[in-house]
Amino acid sequence: MTIRLAVAGGNRGARFDQVLGGLEEQIELVSVCDPSEQIRSEWTNGRPELKAFEQFEDLVEDPGIDAVFIATPMLLHAGQALTALNAGKHVLSEVIAAATLDECHALVETVEKTGMTYMMAENYCYRREAMMVKNMADQNVFGDLTYAEGAYIHDCRDLMFNADLTRTWRANGSVAGTQGGFGSTQSSRGNGYPTHSLGPIAQWLGINRGDRLARTTTFVTKSAARQEWARSVLPEGHFDRKDAAWADFTDSATTLIETEQGRVICLRKDSASPRPHNMALHSLQGTNGAYLSGRFDGEGPLVWLDGVSEGVSPANLGYRDKARPAGVANSTRAAWQTLWDLSDRYEHPYWKQFGDEAIQAGHGGGDYFVMYDFARAVAGEIEPPIDVYDAVTWSSIFPISIENVKRNGEPLDVPDFRNR
Ligand SMILES: NC(=O)c1ccc[n+]([C@@H]2O[C@H](COP(=O)([O-])OP(=O)(O)OC[C@H]3O[C@@H](n4cnc5c(N)ncnc54)[C@H](O)[C@@H]3O)[C@@H](O)[C@H]2O)c1
Repeated sequence: MTIRLAVAGGNRGARFDQVLGGLEEQIELVSVCDPSEQIRSEWTNGRPELKAFEQFEDLVEDPGIDAVFIATPMLLHAGQALTALNAGKHVLSEVIAAATLDECHALVETVEKTGMTYMMAENYCYRREAMMVKNMADQNVFGDLTYAEGAYIHDCRDLMFNADLTRTWRANGSVAGTQGGFGSTQSSRGNGYPTHSLGPIAQWLGINRGDRLARTTTFVTKSAARQEWARSVLPEGHFDRKDAAWADFTDSATTLIETEQGRVICLRKDSASPRPHNMALHSLQGTNGAYLSGRFDGEGPLVWLDGVSEGVSPANLGYRDKARPAGVANSTRAAWQTLWDLSDRYEHPYWKQFGDEAIQAGHGGGDYFVMYDFARAVAGEIEPPIDVYDAVTWSSIFPISIENVKRNGEPLDVPDFRNR
């Protein structure tokens, strides 16, 4: 079965052009939708067979399309997904899937009602190390999981202004206070982009598959780096040079989540602080060992596993009279080893089979596997690995975090979208 796919939002969508080139048997790109004439013509140049739509509503009425990949500005995702599902199209949605709890509920109801396939394109779940750690967690290698951390730290201040010095959607204030644009989740006083950090963790912990996000809180810093940068690039007299222009923003947000099974997740999201990227910073703790991602690009991920890696924990070296498992009396302290030492045993089958194609398609391989699994889900071979319940559970941290901040950090329940 070849799925006839349309891409809405021609910028991020273009990153998938290379991916689609490697999945020709599964997916045929048939149309693109973007209000920008320039972007449409960049897509159709040299491809006369590709249809180009200016309006999303016209795109979804085309009977020649089976599925839509929604890669538009963030606050459009849920509304466009609902329109597409109701028009009988399968949906692959960029992150985050929804920006309000009402949108979260509407997405669940509409997917259940229409029976169409819906998947969120959380590509960080498909990075090589994330999939390998999931494989290990599924096999109980880390023991009983208790704690996880994730961070998405990406200085996006250069994406805040258009060439004419108006704000882009990324800097357009909170959901309610848009400045003539769509509004942005990335810049409001909350955790506006939780899914890159939360997605892999939720899969490791089996969230919505045995455990559940129960309650959460978020604290945010003041906004400081945004206005410093705005003052360095904007002309004298421009409104956005003032501190007041950024009063509704934050540089850094920290979210804590408690799960039903008594685990704790800590997330950081920062899209304003000046520093090198840290886009997939993760750690995982279990009763049998721990995982630690590289701290920066180029540094490899680490694990320590009891009985597999070097040494013992606790070290207990100075107390030889204390009980110690037989055979480890002269052991050394626990020492990290590289995760890739264990690839022969735990590499995810996808990466074993398609790792080279995935890497060539860019973005750490994640985009390739997102599209591959979406095609498999539409074809009925698998359930969507990031289904509508996962999509709205992970995305709901955004609207809840805004409410947490308004209530000075009061923890709030995360809705159980599966059992409403
Ligand atoms: N998963 C990832 O790693 C990743 C990476 C980058 C961006 N994204 C997500 O992709 C989305 C788009 O990001 P971007 O960087 O391309 O943003 P962008 O602002 O650069 O581009 C958005 C595009 O959408 C078009 N658009 C606006 N309204 C539209 C509509 N109604 N219908 C169709 N197209 C419309 C715009 O003309 C523009 O071409 C965002 O949600 C972003 O968070 C995800």
